[in-house]
Amino acid sequence: MTDHNRILLVGCGKMGSALLNGWLGQGTPAGQVSVVEPMAPQLPDGVAVHTDASALDSEYHPSVVVFAVKPQAMDDVVPAYSAYAGPDTAFLSIAAGKPIGYFEAALTGGAIVRAMPNTPAAVGRGVTVLCANDQVSREQKSVCTQLMQSVGEVAWIDDEALMDAVTGLSGSGPAYVFHLVEAMAAAGAAAGLSPNLAMQLARATVAGSGELLTQSSDPAGTLRENVTSPGGTTAAALEVLMGPDGLTRLMTEAIARATERSRELAQ
Ligand SMILES: NC(=O)c1ccc[n+]([C@@H]2O[C@H](COP(=O)([O-])OP(=O)(O)OC[C@H]3O[C@@H](n4cnc5c(N)ncnc54)[C@H](OP(=O)(O)O)[C@@H]3O)[C@@H](O)[C@H]2O)c1
Repeated sequence: MTDHNRILLVGCGKMGSALLNGWLGQGTPAGQVSVVEPMAPQLPDGVAVHTDASALDSEYHPSVVVFAVKPQAMDDVVPAYSAYAGPDTAFLSIAAGKPIGYFEAALTGGAIVRAMPNTPAAVGRGVTVLCANDQVSREQKSVCTQLMQSVGEVAWIDDEALMDAVTGLSGSGPAYVFHLVEAMAAAGAAAGLSPNLAMQLARATVAGSGELLTQSSDPAGTLRENVTSPGGTTAAALEVLMGPDGLTRLMTEAIARATERSRELAQ
């Protein structure tokens, strides 16, 4: 995918290593990837590892710098890469809540892409939303798309203000689904199942339904209707879940709160 691109990954923790595995798994040659990570972890053969930006060769010039450190570490990390700012290098940040303007200021310009992935990226099934400033070329956008597609689906937005809602929906969303499993298991136990069996059934039901969604091109509503006979057991449950105080109202409130919190944290 990125034949002639030199990728510099800054931060190789949970998300950084998921990305690295995704790139290598998709066929990016290890020699095209360099990593800066203080603990100098054991990485796949061929990937150059440096403990600090100052250890990078002065001749080295990355096509993409991927910032995958914690948002609170960015102030200490980003300025060390400002020498790369220019039309030949795109900066791709996956940090939650760090706006494009933050990187423009810290790097004194540059082609900046802000991305919001989510944790299923660790198993190649994430979804990432990206937003670029006007310095990012079409080709750089395409490279960023490919880099993030190696860990799941990708969508672009033009209006960066929507990143807060993206964070509220897909960034935080995996936790809502995990909580759905907890809620279903608790409800199954309340209905008389052993807690272990209830958890097994809830977990497998959510995981299996997710897989069905992935493999089917039908809308979620159609998949729901397919398992709902009129007057049957599913219909009885959906009367509660789809009622006026049901899941849509709760989820709308929950995501609105997460969106608001994302806005607050960005201040
Ligand atoms: N995890 C998620 O679900 C998720 C979802 C969306 C976005 N994100 C974003 O992804 C980013 C990384 O999150 P994460 O969960 O992967 O965090 P993480 O596991 O803590 O990884 C960050 C890594 O950066 C390293 N690091 C610290 N200072 C550095 C420096 N100066 N140069 C290079 N590397 C440095 C850390 O090393 P030490 O541990 O030795 O300090 C750590 O290995 C965050 O900005 C987060 O907002 C994460």
